[in-house]
Amino acid sequence: MAKKKSNEELPKIGLLYLDYVLRFFDKSNFRGWPNKIETVTYHWKNDKNRFIKEVKRKKIDILIGNIPATAYETFREIARELPNVQFIPSLDTQFSNKSKENVTRFAWKYEIPIPKTYIFYDKNKADNFIGKTKFPKIVKKSYGPSNYGGYFVHKVDSKQEARNLLAQKKYHPAYFQDFVPMEADVRVMLIGHKPVCAFWRRAPEGEWLTNTSQGGEMDYMNVPKELLDLAVQVSKAANAEYWACDVAVGKDGKYRILECATAFAAFPYIRDWIGQYLMWKFSDGRFPKPNIPLFNWEELGKMDPSVLRTLRYITFGNYTPSYDGAYFLDKKVKETEEGEMYLHEMDSLYPMLLTEDRNYEEWPSEKWNFQDNYGRSIRKVHSQSNPKISADESEESEKSAIVLTEKKIQKLLTSVEGIGKKKAEHIMDKFDTTELVHALETAPHKIMEEISWFKKKFLTKLIKEWETFKNKL
Ligand SMILES: Nc1ncnc2c1ncn2[C@@H]1O[C@H](COP(=O)(O)OP(=O)(O)O)[C@@H](O)[C@H]1O
Ligand SMILES: [Mg+2]
Repeated sequence: MAKKKSNEELPKIGLLYLDYVLRFFDKSNFRGWPNKIETVTYHWKNDKNRFIKEVKRKKIDILIGNIPATAYETFREIARELPNVQFIPSLDTQFSNKSKENVTRFAWKYEIPIPKTYIFYDKNKADNFIGKTKFPKIVKKSYGPSNYGGYFVHKVDSKQEARNLLAQKKYHPAYFQDFVPMEADVRVMLIGHKPVCAFWRRAPEGEWLTNTSQGGEMDYMNVPKELLDLAVQVSKAANAEYWACDVAVGKDGKYRILECATAFAAFPYIRDWIGQYLMWKFSDGRFPKPNIPLFNWEELGKMDPSVLRTLRYITFGNYTPSYDGAYFLDKKVKETEEGEMYLHEMDSLYPMLLTEDRNYEEWPSEKWNFQDNYGRSIRKVHSQSNPKISADESEESEKSAIVLTEKKIQKLLTSVEGIGKKKAEHIMDKFDTTELVHALETAPHKIMEEISWFKKKFLTKLIKEWETFKNKL
């Protein structure tokens, strides 16, 4: 093993704060860190350059903190201007914090199960969809500062209700999901891809919202292994140091992700664990990896929340077969789909892992900030004969991804052997031009899911044609 890092060799940590935003971490979560921990506060409005200067002046190597949705795009810019500063969680990991649309696009990319979701920036497409789809549907506000607690989640039972709601709320984009009847949902919190806390939330009698903020019940017992496995998969896909997922348990027995993010409510002792994990990560082993046994929440959850809110620095000893083993072996087994498992065996299936340090952007805003980049231009694409983004649009959209005319898309589609005019029209009925380009670029299997006759061989050919076509642009 390499020599342990001296104080001088440790990276300089800074905590990222924003005015008016609750602080997830403070220095006490990093107890024992030998060097000064800096703080930098973003003051909103025109504060970008000053903020960047302050980070540089304080020689911060690692900037830790959650970025709220409304500051997300600014911080993507800030991160680019600070290439030597590592943001934790990375801006890519925080992509899902920005909007429900982003959660959906993240899930599409990684083939994470979610309720079937439909997103429209074009009002006519949304209206068309309402005309053809089945009800009930869920309509959600994708993005907004107070987007929490089910206040912007609506169940609509008919075309008329859907149209009235969108006319009144003017949600942009229009975000629909199939209504999934649920037993409950489970919030899982993970650190280094290891579940450290999980609890059930059940809807009040006769209600469909499982949010506890709406008066539902919660408890910590017997969260299924397979549900934890899904949460781990999602955390890994996000490369998240810390993470929370809401997993819906459908009446059909299936698990689906409803929400996931790095920003969530957590007891202070959980934030201490995150601090310990990060100190381990950044010290190359000088600080120990915290040992947090699986299902600790079943035991801690027996305490009153008012007590849990005051507990700090909870540590667990390591499992030793001679003593703890006897206890575990005698007493604790868990039911899983593969049969019964001892608790300590199961614990070893969920190691706490280091996240990857990456030097590329997975979700660059030029491509993924649909709200600002495409929101307005998409509508124009349909009404204009010349779809090129005009000079009076923002500079942001200048950099945006490829936007094509319907004619060009038609030409592309019919260039695939076996796809004629009729079939092409059918595809264009389901996807508008921008959606199709994005499907091709990021989640081509979406086309197969959406269109039953669209078989794998079409997809393979279409992707090939698309590559050729792109090269000629
Ligand atoms: N597709 C869906 N089908 C059925 N119920 C849903 C669906 N999506 C959300 N819900 C219910 O609405 C609640 C709030 O939705 P969610 O997407 O978590 O938004 P938020 O918590 O930000 O308001 C969920 O906890 C769940 O009970
Ligand atoms: Mg929720």
